[in-house]
Amino acid sequence: MQNIQARRWDPLVRLTHWGVAAGVLANGAFTEEGSGLHLWVGYGVGALLALRLLWGFIGPAEARFSAFPPSPGRAAAHLREIAEGRRSHHRSHNPLGALMVYALWATLAVVIATGVAMAGPPTLSTPPAVAASNERGHEAAEAAEHEGGHEAHGSARDGDAEHEEDEWMEEVHEAAANLLFVLAALHILGVAFETRRSGRQILTAMIGGRRKAAPAE
Ligand code: HEM
Ligand code: HEM
Repeated sequence: MQNIQARRWDPLVRLTHWGVAAGVLANGAFTEEGSGLHLWVGYGVGALLALRLLWGFIGPAEARFSAFPPSPGRAAAHLREIAEGRRSHHRSHNPLGALMVYALWATLAVVIATGVAMAGPPTLSTPPAVAASNERGHEAAEAAEHEGGHEAHGSARDGDAEHEEDEWMEEVHEAAANLLFVLAALHILGVAFETRRSGRQILTAMIGGRRKAAPAE
């Protein structure tokens, strides 16, 4: 049955969505933490997020933030709608979905910001490898401690302070990444639930399924 309310997200929304999802999955499950590949995938995800957020101001109507403002009131109304078995049509994300979208973006921003704080901005030279440089920093601090000179002590302390800051960033990075995985799982359940409830092709709209043939001009 052809859904008369069919819609399709524009190519930039689809590209950034699936790029971010693939990058998050890759960094959460496959790349080695802190490796060059982890960092480059992370920078890529950051760039895609930045592009999508820019699109929220200048993109087509349904992709703009104005089409899905964060509104707990409207989200609550949407929950009542679900409870009462009513359905309404939304051009963009439904109000409950919108809250999830902002939560996903905010959490992702924390993961990226803490990652970049540990690794520094991307450079065009050799791929960064923070784990290795952390290791070297630690060894240098330890060697300085053994030497016992005045200057050496200073650099050992600096090294320790830096190390503590990195550890703190790492903790936040890890906690935010774990929260992101939980939110993403809820998000997928939400998509499945809303698809069943509304009968709309929600996933197809994000994949870019075929449109109904356009009438000949
Ligand atoms: C795209 C989303 C990302 C996810 C899901 C992710 C996930 C993770 C996870 C789960 C860890 C292991 C944490 C631990 O057990 O201590 C980790 C470590 C790390 N991540 Fe990410 N990350 C992401 C993006 C980034 C970005 C953008 C950067 C920096 C450009 C980055 C840099 C690092 C570094 C340096 C570590 C290792 C910390 C250490 O062991 O010294 N990550 N990441
Ligand atoms: C880590 C993985 C994922 C993240 C971080 C994520 C994040 C997001 C975000 C931020 C949006 C809003 C899109 C925008 O307006 O640009 C979105 C929408 C959407 N996502 Fe995901 N997603 C993930 C995985 C998935 C998966 C695996 C599916 C497939 C089941 C999926 C299906 C959808 C759909 C269908 C929408 C549109 C919802 C609507 O019509 O309101 N996502 N996702």
